[in-house]
Amino acid sequence: TRTLPSAVRGPLVRFRADPFRTGTAEALVHDPDGLLICEAGRITAAGPYAALRDRLPPGTEPVHYPGHLITAGFVDAHTHYVQLEAVARFGAQLPDWLAHTYDTEERFADGTHARRIASAFCDELLRNGTTTALAFASVHPDSADALFEEATRRDLRIAAGKVLMDRNAPDSLLDTAQRAYDESLDLIQRWHGKGRNLYAVTPRFAPTSTPAQLEAARDLRAACPDTLLHTHISEHRDEIPWVRSLFPDRDGYLDVYDHYGLLGPRTVLAHGIHLTPSERDHCARTGTAVAHCPSSNLFLGSGLFPLREAKGSDHPLTVALGTDIGAGTSFSLLQTMRDAHQVAKLRGHALDAVRAFYLATRGGAEALGLADTIGSLTPGQEADFTVLDPRATPLLADRTARAESIEDLLFTLAVLGDDRAVRATYTGGRPAYERDAVE
Ligand code: GUN
Ligand code: ZN
Repeated sequence: TRTLPSAVRGPLVRFRADPFRTGTAEALVHDPDGLLICEAGRITAAGPYAALRDRLPPGTEPVHYPGHLITAGFVDAHTHYVQLEAVARFGAQLPDWLAHTYDTEERFADGTHARRIASAFCDELLRNGTTTALAFASVHPDSADALFEEATRRDLRIAAGKVLMDRNAPDSLLDTAQRAYDESLDLIQRWHGKGRNLYAVTPRFAPTSTPAQLEAARDLRAACPDTLLHTHISEHRDEIPWVRSLFPDRDGYLDVYDHYGLLGPRTVLAHGIHLTPSERDHCARTGTAVAHCPSSNLFLGSGLFPLREAKGSDHPLTVALGTDIGAGTSFSLLQTMRDAHQVAKLRGHALDAVRAFYLATRGGAEALGLADTIGSLTPGQEADFTVLDPRATPLLADRTARAESIEDLLFTLAVLGDDRAVRATYTGGRPAYERDAVE
């Protein structure tokens, strides 16, 4: 059915520019009665219904969502599928939390368990309007297979990789530099570019890899240059002196990744809260992206990401939003936008909804090197979109009925919305999830 044309009609929001560069009014396009036409999994037309209705292929009746809001599908630029069961666990800050989380990841030695969690994770993404995710698996290669298989069944776009970790973690979760190379290469050959799957070389973070393993990561990227690189950086303050002691010849945390050739386009560094201004500048110059994970940062008390500084400098950083399940507490990019706004407030400013929606869609696509493919409701892009319901709860209905502008409506959805506000999620022009569907 994927090759048959399809269409949806309803209020549309999309971007014609980056609101961090142009301001919000110039960047956002709002069609109060819009039409999207999709063929062979891609958008072939997007704009006002009145202008495009004549282009509907014969026999294609649009699915109509009056009073809803259709946006590009959300991109979760940093999450851990293997931590689904670790969500909402009480504990202290990152080092303590991580130690407990390793128990959760050990269970992925069992392929049946991996399959069950991968399935639940993919369902949860779709329920929350997320159509693309960059995800950590566990150290076990089978855990990556399970996620790619479940994503394929749902036509989700997943970038993922097995974790590389050869020191400073429980023995049961360690590989070696050689195994990291061999197992990753095997997964790359079987999954990268197959359907909508992409492979991300995934060293957990500098403290858990030896120099030899970071060399293996570099060699993998050199052998397969269009893969992604996914890791963590400067999340908790204590990481920074630890990395210095483990890599005494390097100039700092970012320099470790730089030294091993791991920066550049399609590299996504999670958190980056405590990066220095010159480290942020170096990320921007090399095209390295940061995934801002405000829910996780608030839950673990890791700190407040300086979004305004990151986006406002002469060399703005590519920033995306990540849920960071399970340190993050919600799969919802709407809730993540709300948390990003909360973090901005605690830093003394604010994040408007137009910029927040940009980070959750276009920002994620840019970070993953997919800006030409996803993240925007424009012709030629893959037809991944989310239908939001401004009347999903009594409070939302009451508040959105009085929305003063499209910006106000988007902000209300970001602050009050969650999975309940997702009416439907489409991947490749087809509904992959419908809230009211009869089971
Ligand atoms: N740093 C290294 N590993 C992890 C992880 O699993 N979660 C978080 N939040 N930070 C990390
Ligand atoms: Zn993480």
